[in-house]
Amino acid sequence: MERELICCNGLTKSYAGRRVLDGVSLRLGQNEFVSVLGPGKCGKTTLIKLLSGLERPDAGEVFMDGAAVSSPSPKRGVVYQNTLLFNWLTVLGNVRYPLRKLGRQESLSRAMKYIELMGLKGFEKAYPRQLSGGMKQRCGIARIYAMKPRVIFMDEPFSQLDAQTRYLMQLELEKIFLGEGQSVLFVSNNIEEAVYLSDRIVVLSPSPSRVVKEFRLDLPRPRNYLSPEFVRIRAEIERCLSEVCDG
Ligand SMILES: Nc1ncnc2c1ncn2[C@@H]1O[C@H](COP(=O)(O)OP(=O)(O)OP(=O)(O)O)[C@@H](O)[C@H]1O
Ligand SMILES: [Mg+2]
Repeated sequence: MERELICCNGLTKSYAGRRVLDGVSLRLGQNEFVSVLGPGKCGKTTLIKLLSGLERPDAGEVFMDGAAVSSPSPKRGVVYQNTLLFNWLTVLGNVRYPLRKLGRQESLSRAMKYIELMGLKGFEKAYPRQLSGGMKQRCGIARIYAMKPRVIFMDEPFSQLDAQTRYLMQLELEKIFLGEGQSVLFVSNNIEEAVYLSDRIVVLSPSPSRVVKEFRLDLPRPRNYLSPEFVRIRAEIERCLSEVCDG
């Protein structure tokens, strides 16, 4: 792993007396792509809320660059499963909104670049109500990418998209992440997607969850879904997850 960017130790969190996370520790390096896989309702979204600073753990700590994380920051972007857009702003307005402190020209060209990358060119002037669910999600992703956060937390960001768009979004994410030196923590329910994208995969147990296993993926990029090595590691992770789910 290159220089460590995010680190959390012993994260524990309960809601209404029910423990969801039970001492989760993990690390994310500079320019590293780590995926988190786990059974449904094991606390993946909760983990992202704690890592991004949106919520505080009951015990344990989160650090970014060695400094304690206690609130959200534009250095940490979050893409949720369902992005909320401002209904009264156009696609361009939504993507540009967080960039308003940059100059007019800079915010416009940066917003347009990511709108185009997300396949929304021609829809800059459309309002959210005029977009499909997948297009809204891509607009939300463009908004986060355009902010160029140091780390992006993604919570099943592509699960609403059709297979073809999902594949294109994976390619684009890989390109952006490799090209701009950002770090990504990616929650997915799709093993193939995680194997395609990740440097490491962390598997969580059912809640109260802990890290049960870590896989390092050294396959060269771009990866080939059909290579024997890809198929082998994918099957190994599938096995691990089904063991975890069976308890
Ligand atoms: N704000 C909250 N108040 C009460 N309970 C909550 C809250 N947030 C999460 N929970 C509960 O914590 C557990 C874990 O939720 P979380 O959404 O983190 O899991 P998840 O792994 O992301 O689930 P999914 O696979 O459905 O995305 C669930 O049982 C959920 O009902
Ligand atoms: Mg979730």
